[in-house]
Amino acid sequence: MIEKLEEIKNEAQKEISSCNDEVTLNNIKSKYLGKKSAFTEIMSNMSSLSQEEKREVGSKSNEVRTYLQELLENKLKEIKDTLLTKQLEKDKIDITLPSKKRRTGTLHPLTQVRQEIEDLFISMGYDVVDGPEIDTDANCFELLNLPASHPARDAQDSFYITEEMLLRPHTSAMQVRSMLANVEKKPFKLICPGKTYRRDDDDATHSHQFSQVEGLVVGENISLSDLKGTLELFAKKMFGKDREIRFRASYFPFTEPSYEVDVSCFGCNKKGCSMCKGTGWIEILGCGMVHPNVLENCGFDHTKYQGFAFGVGIERVTMLKYGINNLKLLYTNDYRFLKNFDRKEM
Ligand code: PHE
Repeated sequence: MIEKLEEIKNEAQKEISSCNDEVTLNNIKSKYLGKKSAFTEIMSNMSSLSQEEKREVGSKSNEVRTYLQELLENKLKEIKDTLLTKQLEKDKIDITLPSKKRRTGTLHPLTQVRQEIEDLFISMGYDVVDGPEIDTDANCFELLNLPASHPARDAQDSFYITEEMLLRPHTSAMQVRSMLANVEKKPFKLICPGKTYRRDDDDATHSHQFSQVEGLVVGENISLSDLKGTLELFAKKMFGKDREIRFRASYFPFTEPSYEVDVSCFGCNKKGCSMCKGTGWIEILGCGMVHPNVLENCGFDHTKYQGFAFGVGIERVTMLKYGINNLKLLYTNDYRFLKNFDRKEM
């Protein structure tokens, strides 16, 4: 019996080592250790043996069973491991391949530029306020020191809804609203971005609807140099750190003195090119010190308080910043144009 067990052990061992799939392995298991196996037969014939033989055969059979079970277990593990390795090899993916681009919406360039302007002024402690697009003649003109005879008040230039109400032709209407609202809590500094409307024929550089950002600071000891420093920062933030600005005397009824501000041309760095029409400078905004009449109209003692104001066209800044030569591109929502402003792809 002992030899028989040894034989079983050797044969099984051979078959196990040459097997390489789970089904065959299970067959081997039942062939050698199963109910109908020679091994089980030996076990059931044990009763006919003497005490001495029983001990010997018992111990041998235990040894053989444990040994074979261990072999089977190890083999099963080996088969499963090989299978897994093969599967992994087959399912391998190249994670360095570029992924399919997901098309997602992007912010409109005008919104991006507006937000950039807002971020700058917020960082300097300004409030960002919103105002109505339909406003009174008083807020748009009268209280801003625009005399009744001023050409801007002509119905030909603005969209009047009634005699007294119109689509605001500039965000300067918010100067009046803000000052009237802030009489109690001076000093203040704020910007107001928003839509504005004028009776212009639409072309490559004009639109009946456009957008501006108004800036207004009112307090004591506010001077022109504050305005200059602020606008210099603005120009550098929007057009690059090497930009310079220059003030040209101008006229707005609501500021005194009034200026138009030019930024040094970023196309040619002041040498003269087609963008700056050979002058080296590009006009970007209008500004000035708040006119004493306007301060008084809005409840501020002009001997005590001063202020500065500026108004900048968002379309103009956007066109200059990105070299856009036709205003219509900003309004027609052509995806081929807009996708150039996807910050995720930049
Ligand atoms: N409101 C003026 C315009 O639309 C710009 C401006 C704003 C000028 C504030 C001076 C001060 O052209």
